[in-house]
Amino acid sequence: MKTKSGILLLAVLAAAGLGLPLAASAADAVRSLRGTAVDQAAQQPGNYAVEKDHAPAAREYVQQPPLIPHKVDGYNITTNFNKCMDCHSWTRYRETGATKVSLTHFKDRDGKELSNISPRRYFCNQCHVAQTDAKPLIDNSFRKAEGLK
Ligand code: HEC
Ligand code: HEC
Repeated sequence: MKTKSGILLLAVLAAAGLGLPLAASAADAVRSLRGTAVDQAAQQPGNYAVEKDHAPAAREYVQQPPLIPHKVDGYNITTNFNKCMDCHSWTRYRETGATKVSLTHFKDRDGKELSNISPRRYFCNQCHVAQTDAKPLIDNSFRKAEGLK
């Protein structure tokens, strides 16, 4: 105990001597991996409104999970019920006007075809996301894939 508090005291003295603020970590700005300061408000999903319902968005690359062009408030996915499939399943899409889930969503991880949605595709929001009006956190040079220009 004695040595521990001794070390702590030394550290405090050293920090004070160097003029380092002791509570620096709490006040530090959030930085991206490339060192750009990140807007803290941009970290709070509640600060941005989800886009209003609109026509399906163009894809940026062919393998992209299409973006969700509508609100998803209250569209819960539980063990017993998947609200997304209530409209997007092959049995429901005609009456709801939703795009039917992709055929690729019926394959298990070994490529075996299943008769219902694959467990690995069950949690739709893992890959499909609605959009907000948030600005990109940092500048980037992302461009649409060649095949979709
Ligand atoms: C009440 C019915 C309904 C529910 C529930 C619903 N959707 Fe939709 N969804 C639609 C309709 C309608 C469209 C638009 C189809 C069109 O205009 O071509 C759509 C479009 C989409 C698209 C765009 C498809 C494309 O080709 O670009 C995605 C992705 C999507 N929904 C995902 C989801 C996910 C994920 C959920 C659950 C969190 C969900 N939807 C729940 C009705 C629904
Ligand atoms: C692991 C990622 C992943 C999950 C989970 C997932 N999807 Fe997809 N989804 C994709 C990708 C990637 C595509 C585009 C390529 C393709 O068709 O496989 C796609 C395509 C789609 C399309 C467009 C089909 C078309 O004909 O253009 C719809 C609709 C869709 N998904 C709905 C859903 C719904 C509803 C769920 C949940 C039950 C879901 N997806 C779960 C990745 C995913």
